[in-house]
Amino acid sequence: MFNAFTDCAVLSNGVKMPCVGYGTWQTPDGDVARNSVRTAIEVGYRHIDTAAGYGNEASVGAGVRESGVAREDLFITTKHWVADRGYEKTIAACEKSLQNLNMDYLDLYLIHWPCVEKVSPNWEEINADTWRGFEKLYKDGKIRAIGVSNFLPGHMDSLIANSTIKPMVNQIEVHPGYYQPELVDYCKKQGITVQAWSPLGSGAVLKDPLLAQIAAKYGKSVAQLCIRFALQQDIVALPKSTNPERIASNMDVFDFQISDEDFAQIAAMPKTGYSGFYAEEAPADALL
Ligand code: A2P
Repeated sequence: MFNAFTDCAVLSNGVKMPCVGYGTWQTPDGDVARNSVRTAIEVGYRHIDTAAGYGNEASVGAGVRESGVAREDLFITTKHWVADRGYEKTIAACEKSLQNLNMDYLDLYLIHWPCVEKVSPNWEEINADTWRGFEKLYKDGKIRAIGVSNFLPGHMDSLIANSTIKPMVNQIEVHPGYYQPELVDYCKKQGITVQAWSPLGSGAVLKDPLLAQIAAKYGKSVAQLCIRFALQQDIVALPKSTNPERIASNMDVFDFQISDEDFAQIAAMPKTGYSGFYAEEAPADALL
């Protein structure tokens, strides 16, 4: 259980990852990304999540540098894009991301999307080949931890069977209204740390009346309730905001505890705020 903003998840290789990270999906490249990343670090975030596919790595890196906080005091994640599958392309893609970020190592590198059967009958081989690149980068010390994103149990079983290093992380969509308990359980049993992308359902659950009622009981905002909902399951939360007040308020989630009864009500909510990006259902351009 995470009890403070400075608490960390300990990955299977011993690397520590701060339990709340600052998400940058849908944050426009340029001044918005640069300023909001700098603000997030200034107010106390030490874990920043970006991706080659977000198109904002260079601005995220600039924001990190402008914050003045030492690189070794930060946990930086980026993700490998679907166009770069395969061993050689993976090595080059990581190098490009490091250049964009203007950094010489990553704390965490993730396969953004699994290759799936509808994309290629050779999906297992393609994922394993990409992962061989990840293992090489990890062994060379370019990356402190390696993992995946949006992988379902079948994708992970295949990867684990065809590799030597088990992924340390799976970053998936988790929020009230779509919290994937079976997938989370699978990861926990495998010793794989779960990260929640869109812990606020990209904003789509923030007006939900049940969540508003529960949040009010604790004197918290719905956003804070959603972040707590992930943390209480030992899931690392990656809320995104470009607004300085909201960036700060999303850190203030450690002075209350969702009761078992309220948790059960949230868990029983109908599907709400789902992105549509489940690996087997996602739009082709997210998978190809
Ligand atoms: P904004 O950037 O204007 O704050 P997620 O993290 O699930 O992807 O959700 C991000 C969305 O939720 C963004 O639209 C963001 O808008 C909004 N958001 C983030 N934090 C809060 C908050 N504390 N209160 C209300 N909306 C928020």
